[in-house]
Amino acid sequence: MYVCLCHGVTDRDIRAAAESGISSMRQLGKELGVGRQCGRCATYAREILREVNATD
Ligand code: FES
Repeated sequence: MYVCLCHGVTDRDIRAAAESGISSMRQLGKELGVGRQCGRCATYAREILREVNATD
């Protein structure tokens, strides 16, 4: 499912990024552009990051 429509980023993309060591929205924005345009994806993207980091 698309989380960030502005940059065409899916929940799987975010999960994969989190699994490869990205742990903050700042890093995620740099890597995938998530949250850098309209910002509507930020809340959900942050939730996914938190979820993946919690299960590490
Ligand atoms: Fe992610 Fe707009 S939906 S920046």
